[in-house]
Amino acid sequence: MRIAIPTETKPGEARVALVPDLAAKLIKQGFDVVLQAGAGAKSGFTDAAYQATGVQVVSADAINSADVVLSVQPLSISQVNTLKPGAITISFLPVNSSAELIQAAAMAKVTALSLELIPRISRAQSMDALTSQALCAGYKAALVGAELSPRFFPLLMTAAGTVTPAQVLVLGAGVAGLQAIATAKRLGAVVSAYDVRPSSKDEVISMGAAFIELELEALEGSGGYAREMTEERAAKQRELLTPYISKSDVVITTAAVPGRPAPRLITKEMMSGLKSGSVVVDLAAETGGNVEGSVAGEVVEIAGVKIWGGKDVPSTLPYHASQLYAKNVINLLNLMIDPTNNELNLNFEDEIIAAAAVTHAGEVRVELTGGGK
Ligand code: NAI
Repeated sequence: MRIAIPTETKPGEARVALVPDLAAKLIKQGFDVVLQAGAGAKSGFTDAAYQATGVQVVSADAINSADVVLSVQPLSISQVNTLKPGAITISFLPVNSSAELIQAAAMAKVTALSLELIPRISRAQSMDALTSQALCAGYKAALVGAELSPRFFPLLMTAAGTVTPAQVLVLGAGVAGLQAIATAKRLGAVVSAYDVRPSSKDEVISMGAAFIELELEALEGSGGYAREMTEERAAKQRELLTPYISKSDVVITTAAVPGRPAPRLITKEMMSGLKSGSVVVDLAAETGGNVEGSVAGEVVEIAGVKIWGGKDVPSTLPYHASQLYAKNVINLLNLMIDPTNNELNLNFEDEIIAAAAVTHAGEVRVELTGGGK
């Protein structure tokens, strides 16, 4: 069986889907691994490092003959059209904006697996790339907040006087939010957090932050995810959060609702209530923004407040983001390999495979809503 790793083509994508250490394991399992030349370069993995483990470094069209193609971003339609029938692709693949690509994969009889669709069950935790990449983003968010802030994060007692610690507020305490809390705490900030899911309270407290309780209905939906707010509730939440936001030096927003635009947590109007020199870090800038006026990939200033909009954030830590991603992908791949003969064996009775496979044997297995490629 031949496993191929193409070079990522999306601008801003610096990760690679397989790292040399894990390639070595696949080769030991008896598989051929081919890597498009330079695919690991942006994440710090040279062609020579792969070659040393037995990977063949090849030109782009080598993916044509692969049985399995591992990538971070989805392949392009033209790449999918070159794959052989029965080939498997594993990547992020947002179903609601990839209709044309998914149809092309079905036409080409390619089995495309979407990492976003891995169910959140304990057996699938080791395959959950949304989680591993959110962890990278949350860590980076706290660092960016510290970097842009004109203040220290920790309490410092010096001969020149005492520096009080920064007040950091984290809105949305999922995987990214919890990692932002942990990182800001390690830097010495005083951290508080809010989430619409009451179950996040214990996790926030276990990270050493204070949990903000608002007199609002909880929004816990299926699969442990949040539900979308009504505009009325959103307005009330913003009103109740305003005093907490106003006294913060750094606000980090990470709120998300699967398949929906990011909930609006902070408006431009609220910005004037923040202290001058405050920093807002919006990790949801690419999906509509938790913060009105944030721009993905830019720092904008509104009313003396710097607003950093996250763009390709896990890619800013490409070495470890790739390492974690590769482990997730290999764990999923191993679920599809029969250990008795090392052949691919997709068992659609397995809820992980059934949920993640978007196309198989010429069929589209999900409902396609949006357009996009
Ligand atoms: P996410 O990335 O979908 O959203 C981030 C956070 O935003 C969530 O905590 C959500 O409750 C919060 N949020 C949504 N709307 C909000 C609003 N209006 N105001 C404030 N916060 C808001 O979340 P993530 O990190 O994917 O986690 C979601 C759930 O999945 C959690 O229960 C987590 O523990 C669980 N999980 C389970 C895994 C597994 O069992 N394999 C793996 C990872 C997470």
